[in-house]
Amino acid sequence: MLDPTPQIKPNPLTGLSGKVLLLSIIFVMLGEVLIFLPSIANFRVQWLKTRVAQAEIAALATEAAPNEMVDAALRDTLLMDAGVEAVAVMREGRRSLVLRSESTAMVEESFDLRGSVSYTSILPAMMVMFQSHDRLINVIDQPPAMSGNSIEIALHEWPLRDAMLNFALRVLGLSVVLSLIVAGLIFAALNRVLVRPMRMLSANMMSFTQAPEDASRIIMPTTRRDELGLAEHALESMQKQLQGLLQQKSRLAALGLAVSKVSHDLRNMLTSAQLISDRLGEVKDQRVQRFAPKLIASLDRAIVFLNQTLTYGRAQELPPRREMLALKSVIDDVFESLKLQAGHIKLIDDVAAKLLVDADHEQLSRILTNLVRNAIQAIESRPQTKDEVRISAKRESHLVLISIADTGPGIPPALKGKMFEAFQTAARQGGTGLGLAISAELAQAHGGGISIAQTGERGTVFEISFPDRNGH
Ligand SMILES: Nc1ncnc2c1ncn2[C@@H]1O[C@H](COP(=O)(O)OP(=O)(O)OP(=O)(O)O)[C@@H](O)[C@H]1O
Ligand SMILES: [Mg+2]
Repeated sequence: MLDPTPQIKPNPLTGLSGKVLLLSIIFVMLGEVLIFLPSIANFRVQWLKTRVAQAEIAALATEAAPNEMVDAALRDTLLMDAGVEAVAVMREGRRSLVLRSESTAMVEESFDLRGSVSYTSILPAMMVMFQSHDRLINVIDQPPAMSGNSIEIALHEWPLRDAMLNFALRVLGLSVVLSLIVAGLIFAALNRVLVRPMRMLSANMMSFTQAPEDASRIIMPTTRRDELGLAEHALESMQKQLQGLLQQKSRLAALGLAVSKVSHDLRNMLTSAQLISDRLGEVKDQRVQRFAPKLIASLDRAIVFLNQTLTYGRAQELPPRREMLALKSVIDDVFESLKLQAGHIKLIDDVAAKLLVDADHEQLSRILTNLVRNAIQAIESRPQTKDEVRISAKRESHLVLISIADTGPGIPPALKGKMFEAFQTAARQGGTGLGLAISAELAQAHGGGISIAQTGERGTVFEISFPDRNGH
């Protein structure tokens, strides 16, 4: 497993989906405002133009009357129908006031609708909405029925304001509905096109991180050809490369353990050779005297070198080449090679001469050497007067049980339970912690195993079991 990715749980609001939704709403609203302002301005102009047209009809009606005069009641009706206070028409530079109500209010502002463009009318439209009192305003325009050069009307502003507010409310309601629909559509589309693929991409990254050696977790790029497709392809090739590197690394690790194991047992053999060659120094022959120190020195160097080479890794041993062996003779060889190391410790072989064990000669002697060496080293860490390592064995139908008992101080508590794992060793110089791991593996390759039958102050007993092959 790679380093765990930080556990960020995107919540609906801070996650990509939430952000996309929020931005969609904001931008659609902004679009609506941009459309709303000119349309309300336009509404005002159209509303005023309608008033102008109605006022012109009223003016024409008045002019059609005999002497161009109407009575007060008809005048008021005409003005009220047109929604204005006064109407004046300009003809050939002459201004004639056609109709006028009784009101004496003063005109507060004048607007000329001729040639007005919609964006210049936005500001006056906004002003209407925020007027605190009902102003009387003057509007000049081209008369739609061409009754003169221009027509001028005076009217109160609040009816206009009410109509505009009404219109604004309707537009606002529509805008909200529209923005919700549009934002929803944008959100759904973006969610499908961007957010979902992104989410799948990050889910894949997280799952790959948990088990990078699992080939089925490598992303399968979709057929999309955009930047996300590119990211998927890039991620796929990165994951494949990483997996390749991991495999290479575990192969190297395996190689490392193989080297460790070879070095370990080779070192054991060289240690015996070194002790034997020490004796050469006692031989009086001059040539021997000359060569012995060199031989000892190179053996020393080889041992140091092997100690340094003991590195990490794991590898399979060759399958055992099994035959029925006289266990006693194997033990004799092992004791012989360890005799010098044993020093004052008695190596006792309690095995019956006729006991046969179904094992690989070389591997069985490696197991025994490791266990007896451990026993000797344990005893040496607390020498006593009557120290011994005793090997006994018995056959139980198809199973041979070999016990190696020592008088050492017992297994250090810190190591209990994990001494058969590689590199578990007590802090003692020269130990690599591979001896028991290798021995256990070799015994298991025979279908058997190694266990600790007993350990404590009075010594330790290791037990090796060797079942016969099927059919023996
Ligand atoms: N008979 C024993 N009595 C007490 N402790 C033991 C005995 N056998 C093994 N141990 C403990 O188990 C440890 C692991 O043994 P193992 O043989 O795997 O490694 P090692 O002896 O430390 O190193 P090496 O790889 O050189 O054999 C030893 O370091 C020792 O502390
Ligand atoms: Mg050992």
